[in-house]
Amino acid sequence: PIPVIIDCDTGVDDALALLLAVRHPGLDLRAVTCVAGNTDVDGVVRNTLTVLEQAGAPEIPVGRGAERPLLEPARAAQHVHGADGMGDLGLPAPKRTASELDAVALLRREILASPRPVTLIPTAPLTNIALLLRTHPEVTRNIERIVFMGGAVAIGNATPVAEFNVWHDPEAAAILLTAGVPITMYGLDVFVQVVVEARDVHRLRASSDPGTRLAGELLAHRPAAVGEEPEAEEAGGLGDAGAVCAVADPQGITSRLLPVEVSLAPGPGRGQTIVDRRPRPGESEIHEGRREQALVDVALEVDANRYVKLYLDTVERP
Ligand code: BDR
Ligand code: CA
Repeated sequence: PIPVIIDCDTGVDDALALLLAVRHPGLDLRAVTCVAGNTDVDGVVRNTLTVLEQAGAPEIPVGRGAERPLLEPARAAQHVHGADGMGDLGLPAPKRTASELDAVALLRREILASPRPVTLIPTAPLTNIALLLRTHPEVTRNIERIVFMGGAVAIGNATPVAEFNVWHDPEAAAILLTAGVPITMYGLDVFVQVVVEARDVHRLRASSDPGTRLAGELLAHRPAAVGEEPEAEEAGGLGDAGAVCAVADPQGITSRLLPVEVSLAPGPGRGQTIVDRRPRPGESEIHEGRREQALVDVALEVDANRYVKLYLDTVERP
């Protein structure tokens, strides 16, 4: 199996990603690290431990990471993920506890100790990963690649042009892109396309297995807007779990190596990932020459049915 570490902000769809990684026979989840994002970092740690426990996962070390982005304040997304950051499902408090090592120390230890190079899967703001790369740059020698959920080619959610994870900590994302290891960007454009149908969600919710049932409850979670009743059960997006699918089954995405830059300037473009899809250089390059830019393997298309099937087949496995 591929040794992987997930860095997350659990998070309804981060929880879906964890469930997949725990149950997929082709993946060896060696650690999970937590960062402020969808909710505060202590909430993320609690939610992550709860998911691992409910999934019946072996004792996987969980590291508490950054409380806030490098420059920006922490800005949680409770309107999407609920007051507890994971859909307010009323789950019991976890019996497991976090590692004594913080996220950066745990990442360093697990990456360097792995007999095979590790694939990192960040599904959250990239603060922990940026701190790791700046504190212990030697880890890159045992990183196979980084497949991150974040950014977008053409759409935004936090702002009209910026995706939440990159918008939350743009400087950290810029550090990631220049890490000097192969990077795949599983961005918002493909993220939104992978959706589980209502009848499948219903079946998962009726399962006798707590982990499978949790996947169903998470997929069914739909935050009500202020003053609105929650909607009846319907289809649910795999979200961050799609990035785990992209590691387990890379053939499910169509990607291209393209220059990507994070917009760091203040103003309406901050946090946008600017992906250069032009076939030939434009005027700025002709007059000023090409600037150094990170080449990133960008997911442009996804076979949504293939990833939904992969998810259901794996998570419903007894
Ligand atoms: C990302 O933001 C979070 O709300 C989700 O967990 C996902 O990682 C999508 O923009
Ligand atoms: Ca996330």
